[in-house]
Amino acid sequence: MSPVILRTLDELRTLVAEWKAAGQSVGVVPTMGALHQGHLSLARAAKEGCDRVIVTIFINPKQFNSPEDYENYPRTEEDDARKLAPLDVDVVYVPGPEEIYPDGFSTTVSVAGLTETLCGAHRPGHFDGVATVVTKLFTQSQADRAYFGEKDFQQLQVVTRLARDLDLPIEVVGCPTIREEDGLAMSSRNLLLSDRARVWAPELHGAMEEVAEGLGQGESFEALKAKAIARIERAGFAEVEYLDLRAADTLEELAAPDRPARLLAAAWLAGVRLIDNIAVD
Ligand code: PAJ
Repeated sequence: MSPVILRTLDELRTLVAEWKAAGQSVGVVPTMGALHQGHLSLARAAKEGCDRVIVTIFINPKQFNSPEDYENYPRTEEDDARKLAPLDVDVVYVPGPEEIYPDGFSTTVSVAGLTETLCGAHRPGHFDGVATVVTKLFTQSQADRAYFGEKDFQQLQVVTRLARDLDLPIEVVGCPTIREEDGLAMSSRNLLLSDRARVWAPELHGAMEEVAEGLGQGESFEALKAKAIARIERAGFAEVEYLDLRAADTLEELAAPDRPARLLAAAWLAGVRLIDNIAVD
């Protein structure tokens, strides 16, 4: 059945109050639209874990670093609603900017520490924008559980931290990264890649897998990293912003995977910034 599309907080609140009065649990899946199988996997996980599911679509101006990036972000609302129809999602919440940032809006949610490295170091203010909008979406939806992808691993940690720090009555659930057959992590930004760039894009993940394998065989991270960066640049990427080995829980930098670790990378290909991460056992 096609989900109901709601555009105002009042309508959302009324419906959620009915669900809660009936003792039903509520899951929320925050997105910026241009939905792909990665987003849909979160909606499916939410359906499994909750009686009612809200998918939100809001392209959040506060988390973009340039007006062009915000303008160019794909907007595909009709397609998105069509993709959600078979999943039996209850509501697609598509708030206008005034529902999220009403006149005079003056509050920022800022998570220290975790947001200062990796993407945070390269995208000033980005995680403040994410943390602020996610806090609003949590309080607006009053959901019991929220579903986030490991694809944005640092974001998942930031959101988990803020929910804990602010005692928000919501459980943050992390879900695995969904990939194209060639290994490229699905992302709305992949739509911005030219045909040629799309052919080379999976090299980022390929090079990361090579690092993880090498680490498994006891090779040094520094040497593996240099080799991987060379491979990524050979594939036509203009710049590797970072390729780091981090502790999976605190995101502390590691020289070797002596505890549960994550390899995280961001790189620019033909004007598009791609990120990826994989577990290192
Ligand atoms: P967006 O990029 O639309 O992603 C929405 C959710 O889908 C995030 O939790 C993201 O990690 C997840 N996701 C994206 N690609 C995925 C993939 N290949 N596999 C699994 N999950 C994937 O992330 C945002 O929007 C925004 O920052 C948001 C949290 C909505 C706040 O504005």
